[in-house]
Amino acid sequence: MYRKPVPAFFALIAAAFVVTACSNDEEAGVDNYDPARDYFTFANTDQFVTEHLALDLDVDFEAQQLQGFAMLTMRRADAAASQVTLDTRDLTIASVAVLQSGNSVPAEFKFGEEHATLGTPLVIDLPADTGASFDLIIEYHTSPSSTALQWLPPELTAGGKHPLMFSQSQAVHARSWIPLQDTPAIRITYEATVRTPRSLLAVMSANNNPLTPRTGEYHFDMPQPIPSYLLAIAVGNLYFAPLGEDTGVYTEPELLDASVYEFADTQAMLEQAEAMYGPYDWGRYDLLVLPPSFPYGGMENPRLSFITPSLLAGDRSLVSVIAHELAHSWSGNLVTNATWRDGWLNEGMTSYIESRLMEVIYDVDRVDEERVLSYRELLQDLEEVPEHMQALAPRLDDTSTEDFQGGIHYSKGQLFLEYLEKAFGREAFDVFLTAYFQEFAFGTITTEQFLDYLELNLLSQEGSPVTRDQAEQWTYQPGLPEDALIPRSTNLDSAAAMAIAWAKDEVELAEIPVGNWSPQATIHFINSLPVELSGAKLAELDAGWGLGKTSNAEIGRTWFIQVATRRYTDAYAELEAHLNRFGRGRLIAPVYSALASNGEDRELALEMFERARGAYHPITVGWIEAGLERAAD
Ligand code: BES
Ligand code: ZN
Repeated sequence: MYRKPVPAFFALIAAAFVVTACSNDEEAGVDNYDPARDYFTFANTDQFVTEHLALDLDVDFEAQQLQGFAMLTMRRADAAASQVTLDTRDLTIASVAVLQSGNSVPAEFKFGEEHATLGTPLVIDLPADTGASFDLIIEYHTSPSSTALQWLPPELTAGGKHPLMFSQSQAVHARSWIPLQDTPAIRITYEATVRTPRSLLAVMSANNNPLTPRTGEYHFDMPQPIPSYLLAIAVGNLYFAPLGEDTGVYTEPELLDASVYEFADTQAMLEQAEAMYGPYDWGRYDLLVLPPSFPYGGMENPRLSFITPSLLAGDRSLVSVIAHELAHSWSGNLVTNATWRDGWLNEGMTSYIESRLMEVIYDVDRVDEERVLSYRELLQDLEEVPEHMQALAPRLDDTSTEDFQGGIHYSKGQLFLEYLEKAFGREAFDVFLTAYFQEFAFGTITTEQFLDYLELNLLSQEGSPVTRDQAEQWTYQPGLPEDALIPRSTNLDSAAAMAIAWAKDEVELAEIPVGNWSPQATIHFINSLPVELSGAKLAELDAGWGLGKTSNAEIGRTWFIQVATRRYTDAYAELEAHLNRFGRGRLIAPVYSALASNGEDRELALEMFERARGAYHPITVGWIEAGLERAAD
């Protein structure tokens, strides 16, 4: 979602072009690019395929590590292959054994060379008589610096008394808590035994039983096959409250009531999604509301979406994130992008379904407002993302960063699907999507497979309003096609008009009906203020609307980006409070960037970052650092 344009990344791209232009040998290398290959794994999945994972882990808060066993049930796909290569990062491997027909035989293993983004390959030599199906038993522990796990001391939790640990595996971090084939192309079922301090509860992206006694030993089963990036665990002083028949929320007791109020519509969203796209195949759907350092808005871990507490605005205004994570139960978790290049099939389709759900549960005006805001963010992305990365399915063999595309997979993907919906009609497009989910259920899909399926079912119809060429313009070309449907919102248009009129003193602040506005309209108003607005006017706005003290994290984000960009120093103390209150990357990284690039406050941004960074997740730290680095250029 957020780019880390490490200078080396651009250098590499530039080098690739030079090479293409002047060297035939190298050119052949470039042409060997395989769009269906996942360049973000070391695993030799063409030779061996994992089918099941059994974990047995102790959660050690003192050592900040998970320790135990992973047993991978593997099937051989290549009779001649004798080595299994797994993905790892910062794992200590104590032993590896191969288990076959009840016999366990130790296996030799060694690490390959470490790679900054991909971690370290673990190469296991199989005993000579290893057959077509076997188990690998790996005894290991994680490192406190595991990029997937954050170990929070009590003071960084809501309750302040118990530690809390959570994982974030997407995109390439499962390998830093489990040695495995870490690629979305492989699906596995899993089971786990997890031992924790007695007072704490463990939850996973599996069958969580809300009535589980708190014994300090927990068992999980995930009978549906999932890609590795959906493996997830959290341990803390967590309690459960139901939201509906099949839905509920886990969080610290201090946040339970607020969460139940905020996410009360989750059951309705689930039922609506089933009505539109077919059965929910996963059993229960629960939420886990984490401490503020959770780096994302939400993460669609199956059966248990992980959620930022910054959604707790008190008015249900930010729950499109819940609709989004729930929608992933179809687009992403049920039908999964084959490689990260095809990420738009996860995120774009999910953004599309998110909006469809929000239209039914709330209303179309609210959703149009959200559409316009994300379109504006897309336009910004299109200015910043290099052209060759603007395709929905870009060439993706550069592994120097895992953040490569800004929001393009999301908003451009959504616009593509809205374009198809408009062309074929909502009814026909719903039929198409429902059939698509059935056809590819529990499978993975490349952009090319999607296009073929689209062609077969819609594009090849007599008189089809869309050609394959037009579809491919979306998937393979930069920018937006000319006939893209640009989102419109009359509410936001009038908020923007108000911003201009108020800036020119044509209306009084008190005359603006902000009390009746959605948070989205307030956001659009703030973003529409002219560049040259005086400090006195900003002070008037802040005092009148209490923007610095807003309980809506997205309004806060928008306001403090403006505060930083415009150097409205009166609000800097509140700006720093915002940076300390939230840890979700989206809410704070752009505020740091704006501060660092306003021409005066780079040092101040660095100081604020130094003061706050101890509470941030390493992923968020990475985004902020990349932004600060960019501001230095
Ligand atoms: N799956 C993503 C989060 C993600 C994407 C993690 C790529 C790692 C790599 C999740 O579903 C998501 O999109 N979260 C958004 C929600 C928003 C678009 C509604 C977020 O966190 O902002
Ligand atoms: Zn998503």
